[in-house]
Amino acid sequence: MESMVKDMALAPSGEDKINWVKNFMPVMRAIDEEYSKTKPFAGKTIVITLHLEAKTAYMAQVFMHAGAKVAVTGSNPLSTQDDVAAALAKSGVYVFATHGCTSEEYDMYINKALDLEPDFVMDDGGDTVHMLHTKRRELLPKILGGSEETTTGVIRLRALEKAGELEFPMIAANDAYCKFLFDNRYGTGQSTWDGIMRTTNLVISGKTVVIAGYGWCGKGGAMRAKGLGANVVITEVDPIKAIEAVFDGFRVMPMDEAAKIGDIFLTLTGDKDVIVDRHFKVMKDGAMMANSGHFDVEINIPQLEALSVSRKTVRNNIEEFKQKDGRKLYLLAEGRLVNLAAGDGHPAEIMDLSFAVQFFSALHIVNHYKELSKGVHLMPEEINTKIAEMKLASIGVTIDTLTEEQAKYLALN
Ligand code: ADE
Repeated sequence: MESMVKDMALAPSGEDKINWVKNFMPVMRAIDEEYSKTKPFAGKTIVITLHLEAKTAYMAQVFMHAGAKVAVTGSNPLSTQDDVAAALAKSGVYVFATHGCTSEEYDMYINKALDLEPDFVMDDGGDTVHMLHTKRRELLPKILGGSEETTTGVIRLRALEKAGELEFPMIAANDAYCKFLFDNRYGTGQSTWDGIMRTTNLVISGKTVVIAGYGWCGKGGAMRAKGLGANVVITEVDPIKAIEAVFDGFRVMPMDEAAKIGDIFLTLTGDKDVIVDRHFKVMKDGAMMANSGHFDVEINIPQLEALSVSRKTVRNNIEEFKQKDGRKLYLLAEGRLVNLAAGDGHPAEIMDLSFAVQFFSALHIVNHYKELSKGVHLMPEEINTKIAEMKLASIGVTIDTLTEEQAKYLALN
């Protein structure tokens, strides 16, 4: 089967990008070194549906070096980088992804990858698992299991499990400490503001930034906005997270109030209709909106369009929506993940941890699928510890160890 990418001639630039991030992914390099010798995935086919940028490409290559036949599709039409896709295809991985593809093409690419009849699927957002449970059910018997990268995908998986319909074991990679504590918080925190700043070329300091959602991603977005000098306002539906935001030093209020005062709005809730028509109607002239949640449903764009007298692109990744009263509202990156659609995703040092979680989750499934029930599982705790130890070693940080007496005191064995 042939890969489907935009242009193979773009490969040299993609190779440079992959080589760059590899320098900052020491845990993945150690995994590459060890498992390219033992090849634990020999004879196995892995389908990876993830944001196809340089870190993802390196992870796919690590699986290939570890013996797997690997196919990669993107998990969002705007996050695929065509040069990286070409470089990855050139290196021997099957790639089915193009930047800006239509939703029909997006589904077709997932189907093409699934035609390779995977033993393991790695998903980001749940689209491939959904496809397997609906249109490609004939492939279910061969699947040993899979893993899910993101909060939204884990929510979809748990719903499937609750309905008794999940047909194989899935590891919620997102819920591993070595993933969400760092990727969702520091990764999203930095990459989101990187995407917003490089797109707008505007100052954040002194602006009122409204962050919708105070989960791990929202916490990261808020923390970095504060560090950049913004006046941060949080909107929440969960009373406990709202208290957390208050004690972290932020103002908390409903979106109906925040809509009137925000200069920049950022949604990270995972839910739809967070910013809707009644909010657009009261926003200040020049207000900007961006989303870092998985799907482009948090800002209701059809309602925004219906209220507007014109919609036009005024700068790469910025659309202006002119209102009847003359106010101009701006939407970044079509309301899709601003950190990936208008940036390069999370920093390499962070994805080093996330992708180590993914690698060991896949290895766990391949070694233990017979003992694992159909359903959502956590990555075993000792693997989190192992990854954390590998990361600390790679950055030259040492820590204390318990004495025997201390261990006894804590009733550890
Ligand atoms: N790079 C690859 N996958 C990513 C993700 N889920 N979030 C941010 N950056 C990424």
